[in-house]
This record gives sequence, structure tokens and C-alpha cells, in this order.
Amino acid sequence: QRIPVGIVGCGPAGLFLAHLLHRAGIESVILENRSREAVEGTIRAGVLEHWVTELMREMGLGERMAREGHFHTGITLQYGPNRFHLDMEELTGGKRVTVYPQHEVLIDLIGARLADGGTIHFGVSETAFHDVDTDTPRITFRHADGTPDELRCDYVVGADGFHGPGRQAIPAADRREYSKTYPFGWLGILARAPTSWHELIYARHEDGFALLSTRSPEIQRLYIQCDPRDDIANWPDERIWAALHRRLETAGDWRLAEGAIFQKGIIPLRSFVCETMRHGRLFLAGDAAHIVPPTGAKGLNLAVADVLVLSRALEEAIRRNRTDGLDSYAATALRRIWKAERFSWMMTTMLHRDDTETAFEHRIRMADLDFLAGSRNAQAALAENYVGLPFEA
Ligand code: DHB
Repeated sequence: QRIPVGIVGCGPAGLFLAHLLHRAGIESVILENRSREAVEGTIRAGVLEHWVTELMREMGLGERMAREGHFHTGITLQYGPNRFHLDMEELTGGKRVTVYPQHEVLIDLIGARLADGGTIHFGVSETAFHDVDTDTPRITFRHADGTPDELRCDYVVGADGFHGPGRQAIPAADRREYSKTYPFGWLGILARAPTSWHELIYARHEDGFALLSTRSPEIQRLYIQCDPRDDIANWPDERIWAALHRRLETAGDWRLAEGAIFQKGIIPLRSFVCETMRHGRLFLAGDAAHIVPPTGAKGLNLAVADVLVLSRALEEAIRRNRTDGLDSYAATALRRIWKAERFSWMMTTMLHRDDTETAFEHRIRMADLDFLAGSRNAQAALAENYVGLPFEA
């Protein structure tokens, strides 16, 4: 028995794709190498673009988000003693973002998929794509209990992240890839602390970037720029709070509220695009095809944008035997991907301390911020990207 679409990866790309296909009457199976508990418990970013919130609502997946998510109509930027507010709602004609953590989105989408009778195999291993350049692609894997199995599909999708087997199933000689690594990482914490400010604060400081974000009125998410090779053991809580106070408390007498840190970790920052998002009947979506540095929180949003394009193309191919949508999938998705890459790179370089930069480049970054603080046009351009660019027809 063949299934229309076999999906590897139960993250935002794989889950949104399964839901969009289901809505179009097309069945799919998701394979995931981690356990359901691990998927639902891993802390990632937390900002949903305006249209993603709308899409979830429209798909009947937005009920808990409407209750527990928080709408943000603006952001605060800070450099040296200067703090300024960007009124995104006013600058974009009424759009805003929703702070609702990625793993909560996954919990909601997994629950709804299983309630719909959908199939997700968690805890699989040895997942491998085969015959992707034929009309009968296959995915082989072992179930969590070790039993070997195979999915025979019409189409297969690698929504399996940067390290998954999806991209590797495309011969290296056929892949067109571009990447940039940054000489810094982020140290992120979750703390049981009260709200310090009504908006996210993105701060550039001579010691490095800092970000004040939130998860709920009781739980705050904060980040500081650090060495990507640093060991989290070198960062006792007091050192983290000292760095956060120093980098965030530069404007007036505003003070950051502390609390118990209950989660902390370091991530590297990189930009990456694999423009070869299709090989025969294999399609890549989300982090399998591209990575953005986290500044601006575009990762999840970009994954959902990919599968919105891909689901329409698969629907056309499966229902109406028209494959032009599949042929143009990569080109269509890449136009949005490169704009998100540009925006994330711009936010990252503008807001981080980079010791590999020249003094000239450093002054250009400060001028970027100074221009942004004083120009409504520059603010509108940032806000347009932040809330999410519109979709092409
Ligand atoms: C968060 C992460 C980001 O990268 C960002 O730009 C804003 C918020 C977060 O995890 O809350």
C-alpha cells in the first residue's frame, strides 16, 4: 500500500504540512526520531508572525494560543543610553506578532493530528530515503521497538532539520549551498520572574547583544551574546544576571527583575541556505533547507511558509496531476527565504558585538541604529519584516 506523502520530522514544517494536506483530503505519515515527550518539551523560539497566528486560527488550531498567547504590537530597541519604541501595529497597518512558544504550537498540532486519526511514529531510528529520483520513493526505518518497516510513497518530504537525512539524500554534487557562521552564540535562560517591560527589548551593548523576551507573566526568556564554544558551566546564575543587568539597564532608571533560573543553554549562530530543495520526488522544507540566526525569530515562521507553498503544489500534483507547482516550489519558497535570511543577518549584525569587524564597520552599525531610531521609513521596513512579509499570490 502506498501513501501519498511520507514526511520525516515532527517539527513545525512536518506538522503544518500534515495538517494542510489533511485539510485538502490528502493523507500523510510523519516519522520522528525523538520521543513525543522530547518534541513537546524542547524549548525553542517563541514569536509567531501575524499570518501564522491567522493560519492557526483558520485551521481550528488556535484555541489555546488565543487563551495563553500574548499579542505584541511593538518592540523596544536599545543602544548605549538610547531606548526607542517601534510601534509595529501602527507602522504595518494593524499587524502584530504573538508570543506563544514553539513547543506549545507543537503540542497543539500533535494533539490535533492524532485526534484527526493521523499517524505519527515517534522514536524511530535508522531513517533513510530511497529511490527518490524514481516515481516510487521509499523511506525505511525502525520503529521504537526495533521492528524494521518501510513507507512506500508518492512523494517524500525531508522536514527533518539541519542534521536530518533529508538533505543528505540529495547528492552533494547536485546541491547548491550557501552559509555564514557568526563568531558568537547565544546563552538563553528561562527564569521564574515577573515581567520587567511590556515589550521585547533588543539591546546592543559594548559587551554584546542582550534580549529580554517572555513566555508568560510569571516566566521570562532572556538571552545574551556569548562565545559559541563557551561551556555553560562557566556561567553560574550570578554571572548571567550580572551580564543581563549591565547590558539591559543602560537607559534611565529602568531595572530588570530577577528570578530563579530553571533552564539554560548555549546555541551557535549561523545562516545557511540549500537552494536545491527538490530532488526527484523528495522535497526539503524548514531547517532541512535553511537556517537563520535567531535574532528576529524567523525560523519557525519560515518553515510554515515553505510548507504552505509545498502543500498547495502537492495538492495540485496529487489531485489534478499538475506538477508545475512542484517544479516551481524551490524558486517560489526561495524568494521568501532569502528575504528572511537578509532580515535575520541584518538584525544580527546590527545588534551584536563582533571583534572581527573593523572600527569603520562598527561605526556603520551604530549609524544603522541611529538612523532606525530617527527614521519612520526605516522603522516601517523593519516592522514589515518583523510581523511577516505578505505572501505572493
Ligand atoms: C525570542 C527569540 C528570538 O530570536 C527573538 O528574536 C525574539 C524572541 C524568544 O525565544 O522569545
